[in-house]
Amino acid sequence: MEEHLSLLIHRSDIEQTVSRIAHQISEDYEGRQLLVVGILKGAFIFMADLIRQISIPIEVDFVTVSSYGSGTSSSRRIRLMQDMTMPVKDKDVLIIEDIVDSGYTLNYVIQHAKDIGARSVAVCALASKPSRRETPVEVSYLGFTVPDKFIVGYGLDFDNKFRYLPDIYALESGDE
Ligand code: IMP
Ligand code: MG
Repeated sequence: MEEHLSLLIHRSDIEQTVSRIAHQISEDYEGRQLLVVGILKGAFIFMADLIRQISIPIEVDFVTVSSYGSGTSSSRRIRLMQDMTMPVKDKDVLIIEDIVDSGYTLNYVIQHAKDIGARSVAVCALASKPSRRETPVEVSYLGFTVPDKFIVGYGLDFDNKFRYLPDIYALESGDE
């Protein structure tokens, strides 16, 4: 399959959006014990940019989750490949995700953070495809609403390709 990329979100829009969200988070969590938890691998670039603009003290951790199978449609069976390493009990947890698609991944991670004793759990996502949702998820901080297209770049991959691109692209396959 031949892959074509078409530019969807330019890096300057990403930069502005990341600043906006970081300021909002800094305001909302002022005086609280915020633990920012990134979902690997997709969220790593977004999270790196975001936390450098947050102006309150935070702690940082990661989880790695995987859904079975590869390709462009996510499976419902989520597996925790690597857990957080910091104590979560009584902290305010903010989960950072690259993109919300069906919603299963985030619901799994939200439930997990609650199960291990988080005081509160909220979600910050770079992008969301609401038309693909199969289970509801509350996203407190959202960067971009995107159409039902597979997107890559700025951390997002297709079969582990394209994560390093500084802008966000829609992936169009050659036979479309
Ligand atoms: P969900 O569990 O269906 O919400 O899937 C979320 C996960 O699927 C994200 O963390 C991404 O890793 C992946 N994903 C969903 N849509 C896209 C996309 O358009 N580009 C890249 N990854 C995606
Ligand atoms: Mg992901």
